[in-house]
Amino acid sequence: MRKRPLGKTTLQVSELALGTWGLSGDGYGPISSVEVDRVIDRALAVGIDLFDTADVYGRGEMERCLGKRLQGAGATFVVTKIGTDLDELPPKKRFDPAHLRTAFERSQERLARDVVDVVLLHNPTVAAMRSKEPLDFLKELKQAGKIRAFGVSAGSADVARAALRDEVDVIELAYNALLPGDLHEVAGDVSESGAGVLARSVLAHGLLAGHWSPDRDFYPDDHRAQRWTRDEFKTRLRQLDALRPLVTGNVVSLRAAALRFVLANHLVSSAVLGPRSVAQLDQLVREAGMPPYLRDTALTDLSARLKNLGVTT
Ligand SMILES: NC(=O)c1ccc[n+]([C@@H]2O[C@H](COP(=O)([O-])OP(=O)(O)OC[C@H]3O[C@@H](n4cnc5c(N)ncnc54)[C@H](OP(=O)(O)O)[C@@H]3O)[C@@H](O)[C@H]2O)c1
Repeated sequence: MRKRPLGKTTLQVSELALGTWGLSGDGYGPISSVEVDRVIDRALAVGIDLFDTADVYGRGEMERCLGKRLQGAGATFVVTKIGTDLDELPPKKRFDPAHLRTAFERSQERLARDVVDVVLLHNPTVAAMRSKEPLDFLKELKQAGKIRAFGVSAGSADVARAALRDEVDVIELAYNALLPGDLHEVAGDVSESGAGVLARSVLAHGLLAGHWSPDRDFYPDDHRAQRWTRDEFKTRLRQLDALRPLVTGNVVSLRAAALRFVLANHLVSSAVLGPRSVAQLDQLVREAGMPPYLRDTALTDLSARLKNLGVTT
């Protein structure tokens, strides 16, 4: 497993990370606890040392599970996210220091770590980012030695830009071949600030694996049931055509092309994977391959093809 620096932090992390939203049973529907443990163990066995989670995943159960599973597993790094008040029904976004302090202490306990490696604000709005208080609170945690690095998991380029201007150590954002625009928009700010970048939703929630038919349905408790209208879904499937020419030589599948697209970007510190089984994890690790992930010329042509199919690059 190759490593990359996590931006200006001193951490060297595996360039593939294990994301745990899908393993929590939230978002994509139920999953057996046996398979969850197997996926985490398999990630460790293949050399993944970076684990992405949040206090909301399984209402804290995912952090608790990582806390147990990673104990005694050697040097591993955990990224967690806070900023949702789970005591409210429905849960409410909160970034005031009083809430963040309680949330952090609970996460720290569930993760069973004296020092949490990376803590991110979980999807703040641009309005929430106008207050200095949330990031100042995380800076204080860092100064007190309770966390190693801090930052923001951003749902838009505007939020990511605001975070980078506030000199965060790390940003996390969606970055994939059909949604390259947010990272491309803030690429200059990332380079200037030296922040680490965690790229999530590398497969666009599974779409980029290229296995879906136009009439695919999702179970009601799967977030993908609400994500696209049928017409948007069909448009998305058509846009996959832009990626098909990348499947050549040692790029053996659309899934491989999608993953390699992310790894080919030197701004990315780690690609946060979302496998829901050991088989899916193994496929991703195998197909990631080695640098050079994609030919430079392949990327130039890709950009033009994506634009033709209406993807903002
Ligand atoms: N706001 C945030 O901070 C935020 C938001 C989203 C995600 N994240 C983090 O990023 C991680 C990944 O995000 P994501 O769930 O959007 O990731 P993703 O990789 O784009 O999508 C995950 C889905 O891709 C499919 N998949 C995974 N491996 C596959 C394989 N080998 N072959 C075919 N399909 C495969 C699975 O769908 P099927 O179930 O259909 O097989 C899986 O549920 C999350 O677990 C979480 O840690 C953070």
